[in-house]
Amino acid sequence: MGLIRLRPRPARSRPAPAPELEPEVLDRVGEPDVVSEPDVVSELTPEPAPIVTPTFGAPAAESTAAAATSERVATRVIALANQKGGVAKTTTTLNLGVAFHEMGHRVLIVDLDPQGNLTMSQGLNPDTIERSMFDVLVHKVPISEVIEQREVDLAVASIDLAGAELALSSLIGRERSLEKALAEVRASYDFILVDTPPSLGLLTINAFVAATGVFVPVQCEYLSLRGLVQLENTLAMVRENLNPHVAVEGIVATMFDGRTLHSREAIEILEENFGDLVFRTRIRKTVRYAEAPVKGSSVLKYDPTGAAAEAYRELAREIVAAKEAQDGAQAREHA
Ligand SMILES: Nc1ncnc2c1ncn2[C@@H]1O[C@H](COP(=O)(O)OP(=O)(O)OP(=O)(O)O)[C@@H](O)[C@H]1O
Ligand SMILES: [Mg+2]
Repeated sequence: MGLIRLRPRPARSRPAPAPELEPEVLDRVGEPDVVSEPDVVSELTPEPAPIVTPTFGAPAAESTAAAATSERVATRVIALANQKGGVAKTTTTLNLGVAFHEMGHRVLIVDLDPQGNLTMSQGLNPDTIERSMFDVLVHKVPISEVIEQREVDLAVASIDLAGAELALSSLIGRERSLEKALAEVRASYDFILVDTPPSLGLLTINAFVAATGVFVPVQCEYLSLRGLVQLENTLAMVRENLNPHVAVEGIVATMFDGRTLHSREAIEILEENFGDLVFRTRIRKTVRYAEAPVKGSSVLKYDPTGAAAEAYRELAREIVAAKEAQDGAQAREHA
């Protein structure tokens, strides 16, 4: 590749500086994204909002969401985020969630996208749903009241969610709504996966604040490193002001087509820039992923023995194994 010189980040690291792109990289990475809402990000720091407290460094001591430290450590709350649209955030949230469930983990998936695709992909109609994540975030309805039991537990979205950013924007603690809502159910799950909209607005920031880590699905076809840098910058802002623990834990390469040079180059660029953060499991391109949601099911249920289902099982195993290895290493360090 040669043109890309992003400073590599340590593998599965905790808070790290935002990657630095050299100017020519920005020219190299293809079409610009239809993005984002930088205003929300820039509003975070300068505004003397009460939620940004100077004592923040102590893990959210004021928040019941983080009251039980052991729970916070045990439950992995993962935001699936990329402000680029159509990169498989929703597909990954559902299928990875179901794969974790198959492994015996307790899983909640949360639809934080006004498009309601995750909700639809489990056979529910966001247009007819009465109470949803909108009511949870804005009206403080307990999240347990909007959880449906499907293949895994699902906190549903409705079309109302489109108004959530506006409704939240005037509320104190607007960035912590999801974190607070999850406190009620957090201990009941091993994994909480949050599907976010294709933007870096207040809903996605809520997911970052509630999260223990972020997975970034990246479409091998239209790789945009510019988008990843924007995402990392937003995350750095959240880390500084709202959740010091959150970081990108992994990049999921999606819609990979090993037959094309383009796809292989995309992987090469990702690995060159992000090293071990790129999961080794590749999610290949196949129409199965589009077919399954039409039937209201995950690909693991729709085509249980197919390669598409197996890819997400493999990803789930890789994620669990990486965490076990990390925990083991930390335990040895402290011994
Ligand atoms: N590996 C894959 N191969 C082929 N098609 C895929 C793959 N993964 C997802 N798709 C399809 O690509 C489309 C976009 O996927 P998905 O909705 O998961 O993306 P998204 O990032 O959530 O989009 P949005 O930003 O709009 O929320 C869907 O039609 C989905 O079925
Ligand atoms: Mg989506």
